[in-house]
Amino acid sequence: MLLDQYHRRFTYLRLSLTESCNFRCNYCLPNGSDCQNRAAELTADEVVALVKGFALAGTRKIRLTGGEPTLRKDLCDIISRVKSVDGIEKVAMTTNGYRLKRDIGDWLAAGLDAINVSVDSLDPATFHLVTGQDRLQDILSGIDLALELGCRQVKLNTVLLKQYNGQALNQFLNFVKNRAISLRFIELMQTGDNQSFFNKQHQSGASIQAQLLALGWTQLPKLADAGPALEYSHPDYHGTIGLIMPYSKDFCNSCNRLRVSSLGDLYLCLFASEHRNLRHLLTGNNPAEIAEFVQKQLLDKPIAHSLQQAQTGLTKQLAMIGG
Ligand code: 5AD
Ligand code: SF4
Repeated sequence: MLLDQYHRRFTYLRLSLTESCNFRCNYCLPNGSDCQNRAAELTADEVVALVKGFALAGTRKIRLTGGEPTLRKDLCDIISRVKSVDGIEKVAMTTNGYRLKRDIGDWLAAGLDAINVSVDSLDPATFHLVTGQDRLQDILSGIDLALELGCRQVKLNTVLLKQYNGQALNQFLNFVKNRAISLRFIELMQTGDNQSFFNKQHQSGASIQAQLLALGWTQLPKLADAGPALEYSHPDYHGTIGLIMPYSKDFCNSCNRLRVSSLGDLYLCLFASEHRNLRHLLTGNNPAEIAEFVQKQLLDKPIAHSLQQAQTGLTKQLAMIGG
């Protein structure tokens, strides 16, 4: 079991498959992806070796992320091979939804258990403005298809942006009224590249929290292995609403995740000021060596990020390591 010096347990790995992305979200890659690293991405064999090492160290859930993980041509192969690693119980993926409608059936058949789709606005023109892609309707029909095909867990990620969705709570609530999905509002985080955007657009999750409580939503008890999101439910709604508030006090206390980039760098925190490469361990067939390496590094994990002091570490934008 991976443990840090503050007794947090790490059973969840977020694994980036590529830094590349075909969207231009204004808070992440406003000028698009200029990724030079595609040729150096971990191969499917390296991904499987990595996951075997983490599984041996007690990792039970893998999230495939990016950049945009669905740009990988070998995605289905990766999903099914990761899913069949001993000890891995759940394979999830975060996507911008570009290929959702076309490929969700294949991903589910390969063994994908859960999907998070980024949807920052339910208004087509606003969605286009935020992401640079005029594809809202297509993505929404992909989400409905995922539900129809029996995907066990569908979540929507909405980054709170004062000007673009800060006043749209009702529209989002209507969306989850009859859909069994969890919609998560994520507070915009400052990164190396988005400082002036952040200053203009950051809106606190507390503003949404207050409105939810006033409308009769109640906070669900936190499960023992839950991450930092707070979940709310309402008797009249099938779906739930989550709040991810990285600027709130004690946010990092429930941290349960580690991150590995598509280049094989281990990040102990989204906003770490250093990373450690473990690619050299992925060629030998030795999961125990990987497990030992990660456990040893983990003892250096800080108790919390220092985002409140605008310390964004190495993270220029989240496409680098997958949010
Ligand atoms: N702040 C908050 N969320 C972000 N994401 C990307 N960049 C940021 C940021 N600066 C979100 C994406 C995606 C998830 C992985 O992280 O929209 O839903
Ligand atoms: Fe791409 Fe995600 Fe960044 Fe948007 S937030 S540009 S979808 S990596």
